[in-house]
Amino acid sequence: MSPSELVAALEHARARTIALLEPLSDEQLTAQVSELQSPLVWDLAHIGYFEELWLLSGNHDDRYDSFAHGRAERAELPTRQPDEAWAYLNEVRAAALEAIPKTDEFIVGIVVQHELQHVETMAQTMALAGWLRENGVPRVTASGEFEVPGGPFNLGGEDGWAYDNERPAHVVELPPFRIDQALVTNAEFAEFTGSANARPPDDPVMHVSYDEAEAYARWAGKRLPTEAEWEKAAKTVELEHAQGAVWQWTSSFFNGYPGFRAYPYREYSEPFFGEDYRVLRGGSWVTDPLVARPTFRNWDLPQRSQIFAGIRCARDA
Ligand SMILES: [Fe+2]
Repeated sequence: MSPSELVAALEHARARTIALLEPLSDEQLTAQVSELQSPLVWDLAHIGYFEELWLLSGNHDDRYDSFAHGRAERAELPTRQPDEAWAYLNEVRAAALEAIPKTDEFIVGIVVQHELQHVETMAQTMALAGWLRENGVPRVTASGEFEVPGGPFNLGGEDGWAYDNERPAHVVELPPFRIDQALVTNAEFAEFTGSANARPPDDPVMHVSYDEAEAYARWAGKRLPTEAEWEKAAKTVELEHAQGAVWQWTSSFFNGYPGFRAYPYREYSEPFFGEDYRVLRGGSWVTDPLVARPTFRNWDLPQRSQIFAGIRCARDA
């Protein structure tokens, strides 16, 4: 990417941040709506902190270090007010734009993706508070399943802005499997829970936890795909809404691929490896196309449902 394309990507991310938060009052921006989420103004200042850390060798402010301060305690920190946070973001951005020509493209990509990922985190907070207009969720129209033949395929990717946890790409041998063309709808999920669901019946079910997704799949006589199955299907058959609707839970724990090397910082992926977190694949209606790619790996705890997450089922062939 040329310096002007990198600048355009940074500006694109910022425009999304502004568009998301613009309708909110200072009171909404500083409220702690859930123990799971930061006050929005914290995310906002943290976006600036991260940009300053990576694009400027700045005197960054530890209050916005996500590893120094957990989400639940962030409202207690002497946080910047929204207008101060915006001013800070503008100040960092002005200096960052000057630094672009001598900055590694990959590092700019990390900064762009980081802001876009926080846009999604902030949208989750807004959804929990009832402040988000859900006007971009595509309807489910497909039905039936694909049979994906067994054999090797290349898992992971090394293109462009792929994160460390997507690398190195490597060949994986999978037995044949079947995967649903469509996402599970609200109507189908309501049949499983037995409770009437006022959400649009043909929209994909959203805000389900891994535990609920796994239970639904079992109830339907199916199972969740592994992340390798999901990625092979996304790369080889025409899944409806692989991206752009809801994240899809997989049965896989979040772990490093063979030969994993933390880059550019250990804290992005590695502390979450193990058997605590399950992988989600795809991307939601809030996920930016600069982040949603078939190799992108998201992860969360199995009981969490604040993510825009739904279900796509699979079964053995
Ligand atoms: Fe962050």
